[in-house]
Amino acid sequence: APKYRKDYKAPGHWTRHVTLDINLGDGATVVTSELDMERNADSPGSDLFLDGEELKLFRVYIRDDNGEVTQLQEEDDYSLNDDGMLIKNSSLPSGNKYTVGTVVQIAPKENTRLSGLYTSGGNFCTQCEAEGFRRITFAQDRPDVMSTFSVRLNAWPSGDFPVMLSNGNNPVPPTLIPSPPGGEKVDKSYAVWEDPIPKPSYLFALVAGDLGSIKSTFVTKSGRKVKLEIFSEKENVDQLDWAMESLKAAMKWDEEKFGLEYDLDIFNVVAVNDFNMGAMENKGLNVFNTAYVLAKPETATDLDYERIEGVIGHEYFHNWTGNRVTCRDWFQLTLKEGLTVFRDQLFSGDMGSHAAKRIEDVRTLRSRQFPEDAGPLSHPIRPESYIAMDNFYTATVYVKGAEVIRMYRTLVGEAGFRKGMDLYFKRHDGQAVSCDDFRAAMADANDVNLDQFERWYLQPGTPEVSAAGEYDAEAKTYKLTLKQSSKKEDTLPFHIPVVTGLLLKEDGSEGCVASRGLELKEEEQTFTFEDVASEPIPSLLRDLSAPVKLRYKYSDEDLAFLMKHDTDSFNRWEAGQQLSTRVILGMVEEIKAGGEPGALPASLIDSFRATLLEKDIPDKSLQAYALRLPDPATLAEEMDVIDPDALYKALKHVRRSLADALASELRSVYDSAAPSGPYKKNSAEVGRRRLRNTILSYLHEPRDAAAAKLCFDQFEAADCMTDKLAAVACLANFDDAGGAFPERAEALSKFYNDADGDALVLNKWFGIQAAADLPDLLSRVKDLMQHEDFTLKNPNRLRSVVSSFAGSQHKFHAKDGSGYEFLGDMVLEVDQLNPQVASRLATMFSSYRRFDEKRQGLMREQLARIRDSSPSKDTYEVATRCLG
Ligand code: ARG
Ligand code: ZN
Repeated sequence: APKYRKDYKAPGHWTRHVTLDINLGDGATVVTSELDMERNADSPGSDLFLDGEELKLFRVYIRDDNGEVTQLQEEDDYSLNDDGMLIKNSSLPSGNKYTVGTVVQIAPKENTRLSGLYTSGGNFCTQCEAEGFRRITFAQDRPDVMSTFSVRLNAWPSGDFPVMLSNGNNPVPPTLIPSPPGGEKVDKSYAVWEDPIPKPSYLFALVAGDLGSIKSTFVTKSGRKVKLEIFSEKENVDQLDWAMESLKAAMKWDEEKFGLEYDLDIFNVVAVNDFNMGAMENKGLNVFNTAYVLAKPETATDLDYERIEGVIGHEYFHNWTGNRVTCRDWFQLTLKEGLTVFRDQLFSGDMGSHAAKRIEDVRTLRSRQFPEDAGPLSHPIRPESYIAMDNFYTATVYVKGAEVIRMYRTLVGEAGFRKGMDLYFKRHDGQAVSCDDFRAAMADANDVNLDQFERWYLQPGTPEVSAAGEYDAEAKTYKLTLKQSSKKEDTLPFHIPVVTGLLLKEDGSEGCVASRGLELKEEEQTFTFEDVASEPIPSLLRDLSAPVKLRYKYSDEDLAFLMKHDTDSFNRWEAGQQLSTRVILGMVEEIKAGGEPGALPASLIDSFRATLLEKDIPDKSLQAYALRLPDPATLAEEMDVIDPDALYKALKHVRRSLADALASELRSVYDSAAPSGPYKKNSAEVGRRRLRNTILSYLHEPRDAAAAKLCFDQFEAADCMTDKLAAVACLANFDDAGGAFPERAEALSKFYNDADGDALVLNKWFGIQAAADLPDLLSRVKDLMQHEDFTLKNPNRLRSVVSSFAGSQHKFHAKDGSGYEFLGDMVLEVDQLNPQVASRLATMFSSYRRFDEKRQGLMREQLARIRDSSPSKDTYEVATRCLG
């Protein structure tokens, strides 16, 4: 049954302290918990509900405030259902304070859902957000209940568990329990952890096993010495340095930018191989998917390094935005996620380039969030209802949520934003709060009214803003009319910051206003700019100042002008994207009309040539991004009915035409960007590699012998994973049917052997093959799944094949429905093991309404098949919401 945001009620009892005693080891995993309770004075006489799932219950007892213990009896005192246990108020002590104890048994080794306590490669670990703690013990598993924790971990044989971690401080590190005199030798050990800072149960974590680590320290600005340690499987400890460096940078950055300091003496990070999501911000014990921790140049790409820095920062930043100030209920998820994503974006920008980071983030917004918002799974950043909370860790909550936080900063300025953050912490440290509390802090700290701004939390959908300008040469005024609309019915006007500059056509300099923060609050508003010397070209929505789609009728010349002259680096890039979008979509129309796509307009070739030959772009990453065509998913958004074949053909034609028209320029820039010394990881080198590999992807387009040789040469010469992967990904696209292009098989087999079993490198090996541009892709994918290294149980490995295939669009959308049937099969099979991962796969059908009747029908068939196969509630929710 769905839960609704409007139904929020504070609990009738509070858990103030949790004492856990957990027996790990070969025998049964037994969890004894004692919850120190206090009645909520606002709702006297309430029964007590404790969440609990798949727990084998041995006993329940109560201890009153005199220390008197009573065993509770089922039926008389409490009742059980699939969701937990209800203890009658009449069976609870009448006093204000009491303790509830339970003893349960769980089965971590059989836990394939990877939620709660499970094993990964023989080690124990946990994932409790959102609702995993209830799979470990009976508890008030809701974020508004914050408790301190004492945890005792017991393990045997002790040799298997030299590392035993939980949240907070570690008064008793792993200790051997001495054998009793004369008794049998008992090979046991235990450790004790105390977390003095109240937290919701979703931030609980434990890790136990035989792990390697690296250590360091960080001294906070007020002098606290924090012990840092990052753990992984022993063979990977040589891949932890970058994560440690990133962690220290993040700790420093949060002090400098937000005055936020770490609050415990220990900060641990553990990398685990089997993990549903990216990482988890458990208090003092972050648990990570290995993909976001492990890095060395031979195995990780520049992009991997950037992601690690970003995610390490993200989880660390949660310590304040999420942990100390947490969410009142799960509808408020974007309170912590939108804000923390925005903080990690700022951090990554400060560590590298803001301009490049902004482009990457907008690409994600457009290719992932815009389609989500345009489909049946569309929801406001603060959803109104859910069946399985895990389905709401979405691009909308995270990425659009971050855009909404960014808009606050645009509206109140950087200093105002800091004032708002300070007030937010002053008011709410130690509390579980709502998105409205955050908005109120921003409004009050800056003395502005943000009432209308709430609509960003209430209304789904991507707004469209259309702009039209009018220049009055006599009066020297420029009138800009902005209009907002939404595809969703009954949408009220949003409060939209539209940062606007004017460029004078004559000299390319900025007009009278460098940049003005226009605030569009009504459906339509006209803004007047005075003293504009000559007719300007507007530079609108600078740095993408709002998550909207902008419509303005620029001519091709206007766009070329903006590409060259706009002082806003984002809008320079954006102008180029619009120019290519126009050309590609024009070709799509020609193809749909039955024609063959014609020659590229000279303007596009010229602008690409100009970008390519531009000498003084200091940031080569920006140059690389300017040379990349828009993502297929972003282009598809612009089509009334998505025609994947036409889109594929048009994109291929444009890429190939650019490669042909600029062959010699591409080749000479490629050559001049060759490495000039040993591998280095600095932003200049990262940019150089990014540029060169972007060019390689054009150079490989002819798919002829010379192109194959070029890719193979780069593959052989590569001294780092970035260059090696770029080359082998290109080679994977060469059709080797009938023994053609032997370089393909040679490179792939060499890549496989070099991997030497490294799981993350093997994921790359699977991933590039499953996304290759080849006619018989699906049968190759099925072959890949027969490979001895393939398994459905590891989410990274599964996604490296199945999501890579489905995400590459063209073959997934094969008109015969074969791609859909394949994904349907996968969803059903994986759902038996891991519902969270399966339901995420099922969302790949969610764009079905955007396609032609035939494809719509085929996808709907799969969704109905999934819905009718009595799937998990996660997958059921996705299938039914998609079907509408
Ligand atoms: N809070 C984590 C993060 O964003 C994500 C946890 C996701 N968990 C889930 N079950 N969906 O850093
Ligand atoms: Zn997060």
